[in-house]
Amino acid sequence: MKFKRQLFGFMDMLRFKKMVPTRRKMLAEGPNTPLPQEYRTNVLAKKLHPGYMQVELTAARFVTNTMRELTFKRVDTEEFPFFRAGQYVSIQMKIGDSVVSRPYSIVSTPRQALENKLVLAVENAGFVSGYLNEKAKIGDRFVMTEPSGEFHYETLRDNHHIVCIAGGSGITPFMSMAGSLADGDEPYSMTLFYGARTAAQLAYKAELDALTARCKDLKVVYVLSDEEQAGCEKGFISAELMKKYTDLTDATFFLCGPQAMYDFVDKELAPLNLPKKAMRRDATCCGDLPMEHPGAFKLTVHMRDEVYVLPAKENETLLTSMERAGLNAPNKCRAGGCGFCHSKWLSGSYRVADGRDGRREADRKFGFIHPCVTYPLQDMEIDVPVAY
Ligand code: FES
Repeated sequence: MKFKRQLFGFMDMLRFKKMVPTRRKMLAEGPNTPLPQEYRTNVLAKKLHPGYMQVELTAARFVTNTMRELTFKRVDTEEFPFFRAGQYVSIQMKIGDSVVSRPYSIVSTPRQALENKLVLAVENAGFVSGYLNEKAKIGDRFVMTEPSGEFHYETLRDNHHIVCIAGGSGITPFMSMAGSLADGDEPYSMTLFYGARTAAQLAYKAELDALTARCKDLKVVYVLSDEEQAGCEKGFISAELMKKYTDLTDATFFLCGPQAMYDFVDKELAPLNLPKKAMRRDATCCGDLPMEHPGAFKLTVHMRDEVYVLPAKENETLLTSMERAGLNAPNKCRAGGCGFCHSKWLSGSYRVADGRDGRREADRKFGFIHPCVTYPLQDMEIDVPVAY
């Protein structure tokens, strides 16, 4: 077979011939300076995803009789990473012999993070929250995880109009979302229904009213179940009440509050036949199971080169058992969703909390578990990475 020699192919050959000397010349003319130790991309990645942060409590005040607002600054560097309004951080500390942590939604806005300010609000409920609510002092230092979580607006997934429903302390992520909207950093319009028993239990009412006054895309409706108050609705956040203030079609719903509120709102919105993606719920931590006589077991934990044997209870998660024993086990959401506590199962049967199994199929198949949502059914042995 005969090939016709193409002119362009011939030119390519000529260029190829010159390539090596041209490269040699350019290398010889190049600067002799050593390559940078850190590349800009890596510096930026570290800034946005610092992993763990060292923080200090700089201010505290009560925003209701029972809810305490805590303001933190970073002490390992001079700003918090930018985050998505609605996300949470997990704060970690030592109380007695235990190393404990809890996730809290961020109240402050992403812009404030760049001013080295991050605000949380904590109800006086439970071991860790009770400590932060009553005992944490200005100047105390803590370890905090970087902001995480999927409870935030996503342009490609969510409708332009979002209907947010808050119950009690569930107002916290919506403060950040409303503040960020008023700062001009979000593309949505927001109608917030905020339910509480009495007006005294409405946290941040003055701040929300001020945000509403400066942002035309934000509307807030206060709903009190136990008393009549001017400027507030009386009753519960029913579909009928919501329809009075906004169009419920073509909206994405964000819910944060107690389980009873989720159940009620689910029933109210059922006739709308909303697609699953139109309903977003903030995950709550996986707590103790109600059991009268929980079994007592032995939990063997491998952490790097160490092996610990500790007591575990049938109604407590493996993470709780490790924290009580003072082990520094990694965790963030405590709800089975983030995968940060991902550990290797070695032996012993267990149960996973209902509806909380966020493991990938491969993890299930190859014996990985999330200790934050796993309860022992007998003696167990697991291999856990060290948090930091
Ligand atoms: S801490 Fe998030 S899955 Fe366990």
